[in-house]
Amino acid sequence: MSVLSSLKKALRPGASQNFPNDLESLWMPFSANKHFKKNPRIISRAKGMYYYTPSGDQILDGVAGLWCCNAGHTREPIVEAIKKQAEELDFAPAFNMCHPKSFELSSKLSQMAPGGFNHVFFGNSGSEAVESALKIALSYWREKGQESKKILIGRNRGYHGTNFGGVSVGGIEKNRAQFNKFLPEVYHLSDTHNLKKNAFSKGQPDWGEELADELDTMIEKHRSENIAAVIVEPVAGSTGVLIPPKNYLNKIKRKCVENNILLIFDEVITGFGRLGKSFASEYFDITPDLICLAKGINSGTVPMGAVLVQDEIYNAFMNKDEKMIDLFHGYTYSAHPLACAASLAALKLYKEEGLFERASELSKYWEDGIHSLKGIKNIIDIRNLGLIGAVELEPMDGKPTRRAYNVLCEAFVNQKTLLRVTGDIIALSPPLIIEKNQIDQLIENLKTTLQQTE
Ligand SMILES: Cc1ncc(COP(=O)(O)O)c(C=O)c1O
Repeated sequence: MSVLSSLKKALRPGASQNFPNDLESLWMPFSANKHFKKNPRIISRAKGMYYYTPSGDQILDGVAGLWCCNAGHTREPIVEAIKKQAEELDFAPAFNMCHPKSFELSSKLSQMAPGGFNHVFFGNSGSEAVESALKIALSYWREKGQESKKILIGRNRGYHGTNFGGVSVGGIEKNRAQFNKFLPEVYHLSDTHNLKKNAFSKGQPDWGEELADELDTMIEKHRSENIAAVIVEPVAGSTGVLIPPKNYLNKIKRKCVENNILLIFDEVITGFGRLGKSFASEYFDITPDLICLAKGINSGTVPMGAVLVQDEIYNAFMNKDEKMIDLFHGYTYSAHPLACAASLAALKLYKEEGLFERASELSKYWEDGIHSLKGIKNIIDIRNLGLIGAVELEPMDGKPTRRAYNVLCEAFVNQKTLLRVTGDIIALSPPLIIEKNQIDQLIENLKTTLQQTE
């Protein structure tokens, strides 16, 4: 019997029947396709803090889908806004034309951001937000007549999506290794992760501020007149939750200002309440020049990405003949009406329910919960900030990533819990609506999973 027909047979009465006919045709992204197709984990419905499988199992969502459903799942005001928008205006061309909600949303996002971000450029994903920010940074210097400023500086273990620019400035070798050449003039700072110095730190680690001084060495070597921008995630998520050491980000910012280098914060996961504030920039009280957003922008409901742009940068593009295009970049679906409507509804919901403040209030309970796992076999580090957490596991001998992958599968099948794993690290980032008893349940399910997984 095929996996699919045995799954169909296992359907409980009343459970969803909308099964795909064929698993083979789909090439799933960032997935172990062969293993998945033998052991499919299919999600067919969601509500609030839970996913549901076609056979009716309720799955506790420990990662807000993929760090994006900050308001929880299928929230009525967002669903209604999308439905209404689809009836009213399905699509509007984005080039030299626009629709009212795109302006409304860009104003709202500007108001939420720390000072000076009065302009917003829209794309459809975190990767496109990064790509747009890198292009804006490079072309800004050309607009200013400083064409030599072409070097981009990223960080090891940085993740900035999967487009060519993002992979170039990102610091994950595996994301480059399958392909060929990338952007030529890119250098990487060291990452700030250090188990010897910082294991089991609660919140921001004490050690590591000095790693920011590497930027001085790079500037000395490549000279500031050749460096366009530094891009970092304020808290790196997809490479295993790397919390910035105390004062590290401030130092990076100061050095960028002193050397006339743009600073880009990739806030694709830290935006929209994850740290208890609208943006990490606000949480750390650091104002970069460009901020990349996506995911929580509309609680993960319709693909959308955005770049917040400081006045100084936007204005540099506005001194041309007014009938000429100012930036040769954009997407058919930039500021798509459905994405904008969903975002406006999500931002309203975040505010009405005080979800960012809620994340802040819960963060201590969250910290205590996740650190209570210390001592369980194979755990070599636990870290947290806001409503983000990570548990790092000792890799299996000769089989890096296998242990965490087993935990992912075990947690889903036997503990009815959705986790995210990256390398041998389990990452957690629940919807901001999580209740304390659900935090307890999540930690308990993870504990049982870790105890039962080799
Ligand atoms: C910091 C960061 N930047 C960019 C991206 C890419 O976003 P997307 O997958 O929407 O392209 C991600 C995705 O997790 C991310 O965490």
